[in-house]
Amino acid sequence: MKWSYVAEIGGSVGEQVVVKGWVAHLRSSGKIKFAVVRDGTGVIQCVFTEGDSGLALAKFADLTQETSCMVTGTVREDKRSPGGYELLVHDLDIVATAPAYPITPKEHGTAFLMENRHLWLRSSRQHSVIRVRAEVMKACRDYLDGSGFIEVDSPILTPSAAEGTTTLFETSYFDSKAYLSQSGQLYNEATCMAFGRVYCFGPTFRAEKSKTRRHLTEFWMLEPEVAFGDLETVFDVAQGLIAFVVERVLERRRGDLVNLERDLSALERIKAPFARMTYDEALEVLRAKGYAIEWGADLGGDEETALSLGLDGPVFIHRYPAKTKAFYMQPDPENCEVALCTDLIAPEGYGEIIGGSARIHDLALLEARLREFSLPREAFEWYLDLRRYGSVPHSGFGLGIERTVAWICGIKHIREAIPFPRTIYRVYP
Ligand code: 4AD
Ligand code: MG
Repeated sequence: MKWSYVAEIGGSVGEQVVVKGWVAHLRSSGKIKFAVVRDGTGVIQCVFTEGDSGLALAKFADLTQETSCMVTGTVREDKRSPGGYELLVHDLDIVATAPAYPITPKEHGTAFLMENRHLWLRSSRQHSVIRVRAEVMKACRDYLDGSGFIEVDSPILTPSAAEGTTTLFETSYFDSKAYLSQSGQLYNEATCMAFGRVYCFGPTFRAEKSKTRRHLTEFWMLEPEVAFGDLETVFDVAQGLIAFVVERVLERRRGDLVNLERDLSALERIKAPFARMTYDEALEVLRAKGYAIEWGADLGGDEETALSLGLDGPVFIHRYPAKTKAFYMQPDPENCEVALCTDLIAPEGYGEIIGGSARIHDLALLEARLREFSLPREAFEWYLDLRRYGSVPHSGFGLGIERTVAWICGIKHIREAIPFPRTIYRVYP
């Protein structure tokens, strides 16, 4: 018997196929019984009748939600069915039953659902979010691969901090210790000097004690880096990338966005170039909105939300006070109090999705910054070498995948934008 995935079943109208999956819903209407079966690629209504289904009809009584099964039947076109097709059942094999499945169609609290994340992923909304995530990740790679970048991986076990020592995860490493990578950037700086335009893409780790809807302790970051690049390069690559990713998801995952009840018109408006404002201009906007914020303070989640409201697309905030940012950022030659850096703030209150900058390429200045930030020089000798041997200006950024997925999907909390979220309170399941 031909095994068909639901997504491809349209090619088998009138034929007999077997669908392998799990029961999503059951219902009866007089003598006709219906089992909606999902196989990961879609859902199909399987129809059991006295005339056509024979012994399978008797086995229908043993089906429960999430029972795994193999259903053999004839494919029929049916406009009213979810995927446009249904299966007239001739045979049913139950693979394994599922007694009292914990996640029922009724409402459940998020804590309960998170505790059952391994099962919750089977639900339709979660399924859509994870499919959008896969598309976002693929689109990121396609965009950069198509723009002359090469993917060069960075290590996860590292000897030092990249993004501040307060959020480092420490692990024992034989007779010494190591830290889980907070960012692949420092390694990108080495590899861009070897390959010109590079990116790394992988999990990054931060011991974030903040319990917000935007913070995970393990998240995925896409990080491009360009030798001879400057802040303009960051704007260019970042807005090209985001516009491409949004367009791609609209094109290939539209059904999932509709399933998530996403306002598609808000995404359709995302077109490069994006708006820009300096940190100083952002302060003026915020003060006009009633925020009492001093020059020099970093912008928090509330401020980012306030800045994004009323704008159609993402906005770059650039030239933040150098002391609020990382040690490696190049100071602005016009005003050394600010760094040549930018954050991209997503619209609709989703906050920062990208952070990037020009990097310090002068050896003496970088040495001074390591001292100012009390960073252990020995761990950075290799990084200083990059400024000793043919140093050039260079720049790059990091895109947080979960924040991007949360924004594109229109979901409130980023914990649903990753299959198995890790937060200060959760490393299970
Ligand atoms: O702004 P960040 O800290 O920048 C860097 O790590 C740079 N080294 C990147 C680079 O230039 N190569 O982080 C970049 C992005 C943020 O804009 C945000 O989207 C995401 O990573 N991010 C987080 N996402 C989820 N949970 C967290 N705790 C995050 N911290 C940062
Ligand atoms: Mg940042």
